[in-house]
Amino acid sequence: MAGVFANLGNWFNERAPGLAPFYSKHMSAYFAPKNFNFWYYFGVLASVVLVNQILTGIFLAMFYKPSAADAFASVEYIMRDVEWGWLIRYMHSTGASLFFVVVYLHMFRGLLYGSFKKPRELVWLIGMLIFLVLMAEAFMGYVLPWGNMSFWGAKVIISLFGAVPVIGDALVTWIMGDYLPADATLNRFFALHVVALPLVLLLLVALHIFALHEVGSNNPDGVEIKKGPKGNRWSATAPADGIPFHPYYTVHDLFGIGFFLLIAAFIIFFAPTFGGWFLEHDNFIPANNLATPEHIKPVWYFTPFYAMLRMIPAKLPGVIVMFLGIAFLFLMPWLDRGRVRSIRYRGLGYKIALGLFAVSFIMLGAVGAGVSAETIPVWFGADADVTTIENLFGRFWTLVYFAFFAFVWIYTHFGLEKTKPVPERVTTHD
Ligand code: HEM
Repeated sequence: MAGVFANLGNWFNERAPGLAPFYSKHMSAYFAPKNFNFWYYFGVLASVVLVNQILTGIFLAMFYKPSAADAFASVEYIMRDVEWGWLIRYMHSTGASLFFVVVYLHMFRGLLYGSFKKPRELVWLIGMLIFLVLMAEAFMGYVLPWGNMSFWGAKVIISLFGAVPVIGDALVTWIMGDYLPADATLNRFFALHVVALPLVLLLLVALHIFALHEVGSNNPDGVEIKKGPKGNRWSATAPADGIPFHPYYTVHDLFGIGFFLLIAAFIIFFAPTFGGWFLEHDNFIPANNLATPEHIKPVWYFTPFYAMLRMIPAKLPGVIVMFLGIAFLFLMPWLDRGRVRSIRYRGLGYKIALGLFAVSFIMLGAVGAGVSAETIPVWFGADADVTTIENLFGRFWTLVYFAFFAFVWIYTHFGLEKTKPVPERVTTHD
């Protein structure tokens, strides 16, 4: 058997001499720091979800009909009549939410360990582009079942482009291809959702990983293993604190994937709508341009940004604030000039600021999802002025969100941070 593999290997080597070096650069001779922790599972989990979305998406596209007249019924057909259709659809819809769960945790890891700092700025920037494309992909996918929330969500979000001065209204009509979300809108969203954006995502993810493998992974200590001592049991020139990605991290990641799939399966089989958080109740009603849902709100992963938009009384400033909420994340490598990467050795100020930033994101998510509108009357009495209290609450957390970026800039540009000594080499518990 070994001989067969050796012969096969030789056959490929003679015809594609670049393949073996490619494999070793990215797998068997990619030396990753030996101290990866829990937070380092989410990159590979995001890749697993991406593959799941593409595979289940292909099967959904075999039965889905992208027209305003047929879309809703075709999704019902998938759920009721297509063999295993319900499973494929729930894998896809649950996958969309889990995609954002893992991507948000993956991004937070970057903020925890300073993975966006030199020399990984490009990895971070490509990651942020992935995030933008992922948001567009999820939004367009949500419109496809042509439920009532699909319709009204599309109307509200596309209408945001109406805030652009002078050309706003024309832009909205151009995007919709009609004066309301309609057949033309659904057709183009289908084309973008199933072909164009997945291609862009795949390309960006490949670039993201190639860019990372050029400079090497960061780690929970934020120590640059390439600058440390050299030589380990696999190579005399590799970093002493690095271990080959394959087989060590492939096996380590398989464990994380197994655990993740258990959670995913539990949701898919027992709570596919997740109480209306993953699939909203209003989307089980066909699109109706005469009946607005009681509360128009996006799926949970957009609600923090949606809350920023809603907390600002005028449309254009609201859109700008929401846009800045994402733009500042792009700028993190330049806003944060702290020399120490990992939160383990950073000043108390950064620890508190990052903690508050995470809380503000969750609180804004709750505001955007309408949780506060439901709880305010319970906490403040039935005749409480819900709008005023909610606006105060939402604006406060919007301020906290943006204060993080301002604080980090001041804290690190004016040398206010008191850091702890960073160890010479990565620390492990073994
Ligand atoms: C489809 C979405 C994404 C996929 C499949 C993906 C995949 C990966 C993988 C496999 C790694 C290496 C393993 C790891 O460090 O976890 C990685 C690292 C990284 N990713 Fe992503 N990623 C995605 C989105 C993002 C986003 C949205 C950002 C942030 C803006 C980001 C920022 C980073 C950074 C900074 C690293 C290097 C981390 C370090 O070395 O400490 N990624 N990504």
